[in-house]
Formats: sequence, structure tokens, C-alpha cells
Amino acid sequence: MWLLNLKPIEAASRLLSGLSPDPVDCFESFAPVNIALCKYWGKRDRDLNLPVTDSLSISLGECGSRTRVCWLPDASADEVFINGCQVEADTDFYRRVVCHIDLFRFLVPGYLRVETVNDVPTGAGLASSASGFAALTRAVAGLMGVRLEPQVMSLLARLGSGSACRSIYSGFVRWRKGVRADGMDSYAQPLSAHWPTLRVGLLTLTAEAKKTGSRQGMRRTQETSVLYNSWAEQVGQDMEKLERALAVQDFDGLGQVVEHNAMSMHATMLSSWPPLLYWLPDSVKALQRVWELREEGASVYATMDAGPNIKLLFESQTEPLVRDCFPDLQVIEPFA
Ligand code: PMV
Repeated sequence: MWLLNLKPIEAASRLLSGLSPDPVDCFESFAPVNIALCKYWGKRDRDLNLPVTDSLSISLGECGSRTRVCWLPDASADEVFINGCQVEADTDFYRRVVCHIDLFRFLVPGYLRVETVNDVPTGAGLASSASGFAALTRAVAGLMGVRLEPQVMSLLARLGSGSACRSIYSGFVRWRKGVRADGMDSYAQPLSAHWPTLRVGLLTLTAEAKKTGSRQGMRRTQETSVLYNSWAEQVGQDMEKLERALAVQDFDGLGQVVEHNAMSMHATMLSSWPPLLYWLPDSVKALQRVWELREEGASVYATMDAGPNIKLLFESQTEPLVRDCFPDLQVIEPFA
């Protein structure tokens, strides 16, 4: 048994109260993976996933999570399947999914079967929890038959996994940290910038799930890294630079901020105690290859999240060169 966390339940009941549910038997939904260009790393409220800083991401089009939910008549617990395998009830992942369903359960009581298929490896720093919790939010709302505005959907998805609030939208997305203690002003919004030649490359070096999740990692960094406060200051400046680069489609301007922001976040992790290092030797090799390519004149930049895998940012004209250097790269066109 786990302790019931009342804060998210209270927040969800405020968002959902007054709605008239009209449940259906099953509902299926999709949400895209989003890659943070300016990262969310650190919380001002752990129960509500309220961030210390704003963040900005790009959603990966058709690459994401597909989630189907159905009622389980006469069951005494939810059933969760990920990529066709049943998730054991004693895992942290199962607990998080059930807690998320609990946010809606007062609308229509009952247990669910949840089946999710992720296009990217789960828990390997490729943002599967963002697309997963955004798709779950949409699917459960659909199953209960409640129509929700995207802003409410984003607020609810945030309660499952902070970065999931950005996966409610496609394209470039900004998540404002908000200032309210109840988090009602902390949700994502789509940005109007459209950049059809932009490409995101996913370099999956390992599909293995990480040992230290982002929740634990953020907490350790905030509590022990002397660099943490300067990180929060840097994010404010990076957000401004990113928005300027987006406004004039300055690719090198964008890429430099994105890579510097990611490296700075990893520096806060490394300066935590015990130190936190998500990188593998192959991550270093890939980063060094990216830096060589830049020295040779190619505009390609890297970003990394809480895992060893690398995401590359480049434009369509650089795609043949990048594919040549990284033959296993999965190339995404976010604006296709
Ligand atoms: O939403 P979480 O708890 O999975 O945290 C995401 C953290 C990063 O991926 C490292 C950064 C981000 O903004 O997505």
C-alpha cells in the first residue's frame, strides 16, 4: 500500500468538478514525445510537479505514445501494459499510472486496463514519460466522456509527469512555471513559430531504463549542487535567447543555446552529491563527433536529458551529412 497524495487529487477535483461524465467502453489516444530545448530541472513543489523555471520544447510529430484504456468490469485493481508486457503492481511505474487514474476516478468509479505503446525506449531519457502521461490523460478523459480544454489537459498531464504538460501540443511549446501555490497558472502553451526545415535526430545508444529517475535526480541536484541557483538564473536568459532565435529562425543561435543549456543542466547533476552522471562512454564519443562536425563547418547541435541517449538538432540541408556520420539515427521532421 502507498500513501495517498492529496494535493494532486485536490487539484484535479477542482479542474474536473462540475463536469458531467458520459463514459464509453474504451478510448484510445496519442501524444507526441517532446524534447526540451531549454530544460525543466528542479521543482518548487514536488507533489504538484511545479517547476523552478520556465522551459521550452519541440514536439516530435507522429513519434510518441499510443494509449488505449478500457473498463475492467468486476476487477479489483487496474491492469497496466507497456509495449505488450504487463507491468507488475509493485513497481514505481504501476503506482504512478494508478495515481494518475485516481485523479479522475471520482467522476466514474471503476478499474481500467491501460495499454501503452511507446515509439521510443521507455525510461531511457527519451521523454517517454512525457508522451505517456499526456496520452494517458487524454485517454482517461475520453473514456470518462469529459471534454477538456487543452489548458486543463496540460494542467492534469503535469500532475503525472511535469514535462507531460508540454506533450499536449505539437510544434514549439513553452511551459510557464507560474507563481501560484496551487499550480493553476503552471501549464504549457503552443508557440506560433513554424520551422519546416528543422530536424531532430534521436541517437539511441542504449534502450536500457536508467537507474536514477528524473524525480530523484532533480531532487538530489536541488538539494546538493552548489551550481543549482546559477542554473535557474541561466534558464531565464536562455529562454529569452531561444525565443529571439525562433522569431528570426536563427538556427545557429538556437542550437548554441540548446546545447549550452543541456550541458549546464548536466553540470549541475555532476556537481551533486552523490554525483549523478547519466552519460555512457558512447555518449561522450557521439558528443565529440558533433563537435568535430561543427569544427568542419556543419550546423549540428546536441541535447541530452536524464539518460545517456543523444538528440541532434540540424536543418534539412545538413541531413545527408548527419546521417552519414550517425547511420543509426532516427530522423524526425517535427513540422511534417
Ligand atoms: O517530467 P520529468 O519528471 O520526466 O522530467 C523531465 C526532465 C528532463 O527531461 C531532463 C528535462 C525536460 O524538460 O524534459
